[in-house]
Amino acid sequence: MDPFTNSLTMDKPCPQSLLDTGVQGSISRPFDRVDGPKKVSGKATYAAEYDVPDLAYGFLVGSRIGAGRVVSIDADAVRSLPGVIDVVTDFDRFIRVAGQGGETEAPTQGVKTITSRGEIIAIVVAETYEAARDAALQLPVNYEREGGAFDFAAHRNEANAPPDGVTPAHASQGDIEKAMAEADVSIDVTYVTPSQNSAAMEPHASIAVWEQDGSLTLYGAYQMPTSDASQLADALGLPSEKVRIISRYIGGGFGSKLGIAPESVAAAIAAKQIGRPVKAVMARQQVFEATVRRSNTEQRLRLAATADGTLTAIGHESLVSNQPGEDFFEPVGIGTHMIYAAENRLITHEQVPLNFVLSGSMRAPGEAVGMVGLECAMDELAEQLGMDPIELRRINDTSIDPEKGVPFSSRCLTGALDEGARRFGWDRRQAPASRRDGEWWIGMGMASSVRGNMLMESSAKVEIHPDGSATVSSAMTDIGTGSYTILAQIASEILGIPVWQISLSLGDTNDPPAAGSGGSWGAGSSGSAVYLACETLREKLATAMGVETSALTLKDGQAIAANRSQPIGELVGEGIAAVGKIKPGKQEEETTQASFGAHFAEVAVNSVTGEVRVRRMLGVFAAGRVLNAKTARSQCLGGMTFGIGTALTEELVHDRRDGKLVNRDLAEYHIPVNADVPQLDVHFLRERDIHANPIHAKGIGELGISGAAPAIANAIYNACGIRVRDFPITLDKLL
Ligand code: MOS
Repeated sequence: MDPFTNSLTMDKPCPQSLLDTGVQGSISRPFDRVDGPKKVSGKATYAAEYDVPDLAYGFLVGSRIGAGRVVSIDADAVRSLPGVIDVVTDFDRFIRVAGQGGETEAPTQGVKTITSRGEIIAIVVAETYEAARDAALQLPVNYEREGGAFDFAAHRNEANAPPDGVTPAHASQGDIEKAMAEADVSIDVTYVTPSQNSAAMEPHASIAVWEQDGSLTLYGAYQMPTSDASQLADALGLPSEKVRIISRYIGGGFGSKLGIAPESVAAAIAAKQIGRPVKAVMARQQVFEATVRRSNTEQRLRLAATADGTLTAIGHESLVSNQPGEDFFEPVGIGTHMIYAAENRLITHEQVPLNFVLSGSMRAPGEAVGMVGLECAMDELAEQLGMDPIELRRINDTSIDPEKGVPFSSRCLTGALDEGARRFGWDRRQAPASRRDGEWWIGMGMASSVRGNMLMESSAKVEIHPDGSATVSSAMTDIGTGSYTILAQIASEILGIPVWQISLSLGDTNDPPAAGSGGSWGAGSSGSAVYLACETLREKLATAMGVETSALTLKDGQAIAANRSQPIGELVGEGIAAVGKIKPGKQEEETTQASFGAHFAEVAVNSVTGEVRVRRMLGVFAAGRVLNAKTARSQCLGGMTFGIGTALTEELVHDRRDGKLVNRDLAEYHIPVNADVPQLDVHFLRERDIHANPIHAKGIGELGISGAAPAIANAIYNACGIRVRDFPITLDKLL
């Protein structure tokens, strides 16, 4: 039987939500992950783990020059090595993936242009991984070197503004120069943040299997299978229905798996050429060199205020970097557009073309580093004003989008600041460099948090089976965030079927299309699709009971109406199914939608060594309905940990001679480890957003990182009185 369909375009608010009935009581509860047991027992199958017959192993080969051309590759030199099957160098069909977009490189007669060191130029295929790797390391490649741009400082005067129609948005309102000149108090400072890498635990991996009918099945570690399948089809010259992507479990994405990466195209072309399935897993160094980095930034912050702390001007002008001709700009000022009111505004981005690793999306693109500049500058301004930094933010909070003039759909910045101050004990904060604990300086800092909320077109199918169980299926993914669990909870709540009786099929493009996991839109978008499917199934169950929907209660697997109660499974015949589809609509223009919060940090700075230890952190967040208190909290813990990395340890270093990454593994690229992460405290404010979607939830994932690093930097200043504007704040900068 064909499934019913329930489509909703968000043109109007949705004041009523079926999740508010609270009958089943599963929504919002801190449910353990439904996929947890499979993950800890090794039964969750990740992209590289599928048992495919006749599998060959591919190892990628990266360029050893930073700019120039590949003149020739002597494939014959390694073809006779033991176990080697073939060498595939036909990479002119590669698409280059920048952020969420992508462009096809024109074929150039077998000559490969090199734009960055480590760019993938070949794949060696063999009977074992070891044989492929051995041959790949020996593959003779002839290059013609050309001069490249490898030094940000040396090329910063060559920056370009984005072409028309390319994000990020710019703003120019009023006259910032005049406001700065007339201000009672002003700040004009420059903050610098380095390039970063997502460092997901699972490397990028694909297994390519060509089917009898000429279609391709790709087991891949990808966040957005629906759009990734069309990208891959484009790259291979296939119609998009000929590519199926399966991404059931993903070991972290953080943006680096939003678009397809070279290993999928390489595996697909190699599999075609040798007539066997091919697996390609990137080595850790290749993940660093041949996927995407977060751009380094140089941010000029100008803030002007009256003596009472009212902001009269905000300027946030950013320089970022990417490879020549790329359209992705790290959208540094994205949070600055909406967080504080000020009449005069200037937010710009320019890009320095460099032969660095491609720059693209990494967790909270924009806010993660843009809030560093803005929120540290706000701390500097508060000090000049002689004002508490929380008070400065409170005064400049706004219920109207300061640039678009429309109201926020929901916004609880001041609420988060006040609740955080109370819980953290902000009143115990002292003047800079005045609190000691032995040889340690102790300080407290805070910062605001904001992350835009997005709704993306998504669909999901829900089926109720005669045994009373249900299945949810969608090309949505779970990148470790908890999608499996929250989608089960939403279906459980509306259908009155216990969570353990709901099975899920995620990450397969044969299931209804979805926007996947990115930009913190997954829960709101796919959660709404599941909601809509369940809404229709509920109506069908009411009809089967012969009552109005409003008279029906679904609970513990029973349909209850008037004085009757019947098992849900008995009402569905051979089973019923519905597809829910959600689409953004006018609500996106009529309101500005974002999640808000506040971060608090206490640090200790060693007066002898300059070492910084984060002692405790608190994040208070308002992100609409919390769908699962445990997975939501875990998202914020992850974001705050990212903040510790940004503040103290993470820095991707390109060699200024040829752009080679000098720290391209997890030994040399320092992410915070357990010993660096203290007790982190997370608190959610109760909020519902009726303009966002029918489940009233906004994005959480990237909210946790926004503002986390500047809270730590501001705490360091409060501890020892040293203002470091060049990140990360390593101990040498504090001596
Ligand atoms: Mo996120 S950077 O949109 O995966």
